[in-house]
Amino acid sequence: MLSMKKNILISIPAIFMSFCLCAVVLAGDHGHKTPKKVGILLVAFGSSLPGAQVSFDNIENTTKAAYPDIPLRWAYTSHIIRKKLAKQGRHLDSPEVALAKMQDEGFTHVAVQSLHTIGGAEYHDLRRTVGAFKAIGGFQRILLGNPLLATQQDMQLAVAATLKTIPQDRQKSDAVVLMGHGTHHPSNAFYAALMWQLQLKDPNVFIGTVEGYPAADDIREILLQKKIKKAYLMPFMSVAGDHAKNDMAGDEDDSWKSIFTKAGIQCVPILKGTAEYPDFVDIWVSHIRGPLSHFD
Ligand code: CO
Repeated sequence: MLSMKKNILISIPAIFMSFCLCAVVLAGDHGHKTPKKVGILLVAFGSSLPGAQVSFDNIENTTKAAYPDIPLRWAYTSHIIRKKLAKQGRHLDSPEVALAKMQDEGFTHVAVQSLHTIGGAEYHDLRRTVGAFKAIGGFQRILLGNPLLATQQDMQLAVAATLKTIPQDRQKSDAVVLMGHGTHHPSNAFYAALMWQLQLKDPNVFIGTVEGYPAADDIREILLQKKIKKAYLMPFMSVAGDHAKNDMAGDEDDSWKSIFTKAGIQCVPILKGTAEYPDFVDIWVSHIRGPLSHFD
């Protein structure tokens, strides 16, 4: 009888202590004690061409230099490109998988940076993914940075960056035709808006698009009207990938080089993506500051 009483007396503190331990562990699990861990996720469409890596390395190095203490992760939105790269032994994540891994790694604050040129369809898909992680409470904060062209300041910086990329030997009477990607999305208007601002500084700089307005034919008509004899062709995409190589500079009948050459315009294609130039990369990288400034 006496020994039973003694047993109860011993076990009460033991039960109490184990309850306290549980409470501490649970509090940690519920985020109150979770240490703050900030991360950056860079999201590009992706490219499987070896030459494209120059652009991505450039962006990565500039980001690391600007935010040296913040861990960096990558994601490619293109399923086809991820599959192609996987066959070469390079495993890139989709934004969804990259964010799930970051959640697992204990990141609490994530700045997702779009490496798109305009806020088009792919950018809005990424917005939805960020919104989904926000909705499930995956992080304390998750925010998306603007693409290259969003504000008027971006437009002015992009005009200056573009003018700097034009080859020195180009005469003012030669055209510079930039090839944007183009889209069915309302944001396609950014290309013509940028072209107008470029032409205030240099009337012979044009922007056409592969999949939107203005098309190559529209640009050709203007070049003929202006009696242009020579045109430098340059991609207005972060990477000089498939579109630049084939649709812009390729030998097929429907490439821009062929379309303009047939119209009597001598073409000089330049296979360099915008992310190969530091002035463009700086615009993207400075946009990461937007989300980060909300993490304090
Ligand atoms: Co495309």
